[in-house]
Amino acid sequence: MVDVAVLISGRGSNLQALLDACADEKFPARIVKVISNNPDAQGLNRARRAGIPTAVVNHKDYEDKQAFEDALDRELTSCKAQLICLAGFMRILDARFVNRWKNRILNIHPSLLPAFKGLHTHERALEAGVRFTGCTVHIVRPEMDDGPIILQAALAVKPDESAEQLAARVLELEHIIYPEALRLMASGEARVAGDKVIIETAAYPDGGWICPVPKAELARES
Ligand code: GAR
Repeated sequence: MVDVAVLISGRGSNLQALLDACADEKFPARIVKVISNNPDAQGLNRARRAGIPTAVVNHKDYEDKQAFEDALDRELTSCKAQLICLAGFMRILDARFVNRWKNRILNIHPSLLPAFKGLHTHERALEAGVRFTGCTVHIVRPEMDDGPIILQAALAVKPDESAEQLAARVLELEHIIYPEALRLMASGEARVAGDKVIIETAAYPDGGWICPVPKAELARES
C-alpha cells in the first residue's frame, strides 16, 4: 500500500475521484493527507467528509517561496507520504522541492501536453482550432507542466462549444485517468525511465481517430 498526499487549491473534483478510487480496498494507494494552500478550498470539505486528515499551508503566511515549500515539505514528511498528487494545486513548485521529491510527484493538466501548458487551456485550444484536446497525468519536473507522461485522454473538439463546455467534457476524462495513473504508479506497473514512463502491462490501440469524421466514413456508418 502506497501512502499518498494530495495537494489542492480549490474545488477538488480530481481529489474526489482519487478519494473514490482509494475507497476500494483493492486499490494499491491510500490518501493519508490533503493539503491546501488555500484555506477556503472546497476540496478540504471533501477530504473531511472522507475522514482524511487535512492541513492548510497558506503561501501568504510565509516570507518567501522557500519558506512556504519548507512548510509543505514538513507536512509531507510528517505524514510519511510516498507519492504526492497535485490536483488543481495552483502554485508552481521550485526545482529544489521538485528534485527532493523526484519521480514522486504526479500532476494532472487539462490539455494534451506538451500543447497548451499553463492556464486557460480550453480557451487556447478553441482559439487555435485544434481538432483534438484532452488531459494529461505526468510526473512533475522543475519546468512548469513538463515531465514524463503517464496517461493521456483525448477527445474531439466541437467547433460550436464554449470553453466551459469543453472544460466539463475534459474534466470527466480527468476523473478517469488520474485514479488510473495513480494505480499504475502505486502498483509498480508504471515506472519512470529517464524522461519517459514505461508501462509493461499496457495495451495500445492500433487504429487512429480522424476528426471531423470523413464523409466516406459517415456514409459507411449510416
Ligand atoms: C483541473 O481541471 C486540473 O486539470 C486543473 O485545474 C482543475 C482543478 O479542478 N489543473 C491545472 O490547470 C494545473 N496546471 P479540481 O479542483 O476540481 O480538481
